[in-house]
Amino acid sequence: MVSKITKIKSLKNKSKIVCLTAYSKNTAQAIDKYTNIILVGDSLGSTLYNFKSTRSVTLEMMIKHSKSVRQGISNSLMVVDMPYNTYNKPSQALKNCKKVMKLTKCDAVKIEGGLKKIKIIKHLIKNKIPIMGHLGILPQSIKGKFKSKGRSDKERNELVRDCKLLEEAGVFSIVLECVERKLSRQITNLIKIPTIGIGSSNNCDGQILVLDDILSLTESKMKFIKKFVDVKNLIAYGAKKFKEEVKSKKYPSKKYSY
Ligand code: KIV
Repeated sequence: MVSKITKIKSLKNKSKIVCLTAYSKNTAQAIDKYTNIILVGDSLGSTLYNFKSTRSVTLEMMIKHSKSVRQGISNSLMVVDMPYNTYNKPSQALKNCKKVMKLTKCDAVKIEGGLKKIKIIKHLIKNKIPIMGHLGILPQSIKGKFKSKGRSDKERNELVRDCKLLEEAGVFSIVLECVERKLSRQITNLIKIPTIGIGSSNNCDGQILVLDDILSLTESKMKFIKKFVDVKNLIAYGAKKFKEEVKSKKYPSKKYSY
């Protein structure tokens, strides 16, 4: 049987790869038919918990949300973000990744970083942990303002080097966050594994966005975020209708009563 990861890799140069985040069973269930990959992103820190950075997200939070998401997925590949400080050393990383894989039954985990994390990533892959890489802007390491990547020769050379290193190490795909469009094309053409862009142009093999952002549930204003539907307004409308019917005693009518 062809594994889900092999299927994702085979989509390169054939069909764009569709990825979204989910943090709960109900949302995962709603999107699963349309996605190739569902990521339980540590973006849940800012999206759900109002944390200033993803650094405050814990392994326990990721495991709890991932267990919920698992129940809503039957089609997509499920990837879980390894949170900050859980993969500093090879042995610690392996212990934590094994725990996440075992408890959440996810298909793979995502690790931020290139050269600095390569020893750890190699150790994980050697021990059969499927890894999705993440380069460009690294939210767990960011200091100061969000700036797109690939503006200087040094940045461009480092990104190309890191992509090659991750591919050689055996990651099955790489998220490129806020990478300049020409560099995204160069990298996508250079490596044989799929690149998944977020703010990195349509030159990537696939795209990922935070579900809550595209549903207009968040106030995020990053250039690359397109709000495809206004779910916040729909929720408000549902609450308004409920309030009206409760006040007027239309709800619950006999039909909704025992
Ligand atoms: O945490 C996250 O949601 C991510 C993105 C790539 C969407 O890492």
